[in-house]
Amino acid sequence: MLNAPFFDPNKTYHENWEEGPFNGFADGVVLPAGEPRFDFLGQKISYPLGIPAGPLLNGKFVKAALDKGFDVPVHKTVRSKKHPCNEWPNVLGAEIEGDLTIERAQKSIIVRNEYKEPLSITNSFGNPSYDPDVWVADLKDAARYAKPGQFVMCSFEGTKREGMTSEGYINDWADGMQMLKDAGVKVVEANFSCPNEGAAQLLCFDTPKVKLVADAIKNKIGDTPLVIKIAYFDEPSLRELVKETGNIVDGYGAINTIPAPVMSPDGTQALPGAHRVKSGICGAAIKWAGLDMTRRLKALRKELGFTYAIIGSGGVTVPSDFKEYRDAGADVVMTATGAMWNPYLAKEIKEQYPDA
Ligand SMILES: Cc1cc2nc3c(=O)[nH]c(=O)nc-3n(C[C@H](O)[C@H](O)[C@H](O)COP(=O)(O)O)c2cc1C
Repeated sequence: MLNAPFFDPNKTYHENWEEGPFNGFADGVVLPAGEPRFDFLGQKISYPLGIPAGPLLNGKFVKAALDKGFDVPVHKTVRSKKHPCNEWPNVLGAEIEGDLTIERAQKSIIVRNEYKEPLSITNSFGNPSYDPDVWVADLKDAARYAKPGQFVMCSFEGTKREGMTSEGYINDWADGMQMLKDAGVKVVEANFSCPNEGAAQLLCFDTPKVKLVADAIKNKIGDTPLVIKIAYFDEPSLRELVKETGNIVDGYGAINTIPAPVMSPDGTQALPGAHRVKSGICGAAIKWAGLDMTRRLKALRKELGFTYAIIGSGGVTVPSDFKEYRDAGADVVMTATGAMWNPYLAKEIKEQYPDA
C-alpha cells in the first residue's frame, strides 16, 4: 500500500511550495544521522543515498529529506530569474506494465490522478523558478541544516531569453552555478536533460554545446564539483559525450525522465498546453534505463581512464532497487518518485543494507 505523498499532486506547484511538504515529511520525526563513512565528491557522507532534483521544491522540503535520512538531497532546479510553472496538473499516475522501453515510449500512455504499485508517474513542471531573491536565502538556510555525513546539492538550468547572445546564454549557466556555490552548496548540478521544456533536442545530446557550457561553468566555479544531469542515451553517442566531457565534469547524474505521449483515459490530451503532448515518465517503469546508463557510465569510466562520480536514478521504489544500482556501479543512488510516496524509504534501505 502506498503512503500519502509529501508533494500533493492535487495542489499547484505554488501551493506545494508555500504549504508543503505534507504527510510523512511533515510528521516531525527526525531520524538519527549515521557516522560519516563514504567519500563522495570531496565530502564524507553517512550513506550513499539521496533525492534527485525535483520533489524538493525549497528549503522546507530539503530539511525534511535530511531529517528522514536522505543524506544527499538535491534542491529542485532553479533559474537566474523567476520562471513560470506549467499549468496544473503537474503530476499524474501512469499506467505502464513492465518496462517503458524507448519503443513503448513512442505510443501513448494513459495517465490519471491515481497512484498504484508498481509506481510510475508523469511529471511536467517546465522547470519553474522563484526569483533568486527568494531561493538564495532559502537555499543558504537549507544548506546549513545538513548534519555531519550529509550535504545539500542544488540543480540549475540556464535560460535562453529573447535577444540573448550565445555568450549571454553560457554566462547565464556559469553565473547561476556561482550563485549556488555562494549559497553554500557543496556540489552543483547542471540540468542538461529537462524533457518538459518543449525543446526539439535536449542539451545533453549536443556534445559540443555541453562541452562549452560545462567548461564555462568550471572556469567560473573552480574546485566546486560539477555534476551534469543527463537523459537516457539509446545510441552510441554516450561514448562521445563522456569522451569529450569526462575530464571537465566531476560527475554524471543519470537518468532524468523518459518522455512519452500522455493521454487521459478518454483519449484526450492529458496535460493542457501545446508543448505538453509528451511528458516525462519516471518511477518503476524506467528503472531498466537508469541501471543500463549506470553500467555504461561505469564501463566508459574504466575504458577511458576517468574518475568521475556516477549518480544513479530512475525507478528506485523499494530497497532492492537501491542494491541493484549499487551493484551496477552507482556511487550514490537517488530516488524521486519512490521517496515521494514513501518518506521512510531511506530508513528501510539502510536497515536492509547497512553496508550499502
Ligand atoms: C515531481 C518531480 C519533479 C522533477 N523535477 C526535476 C527538476 O526540476 N530537475 C531535474 O533535473 N529533474 C527533475 N525530475 C526528475 C528526477 O530528478 C529523476 O531524474 C527522475 O524522476 C527519475 O527518478 P525516479 O524514477 O526516482 O523518479 C523530477 C521528478 C519528479 C518526480
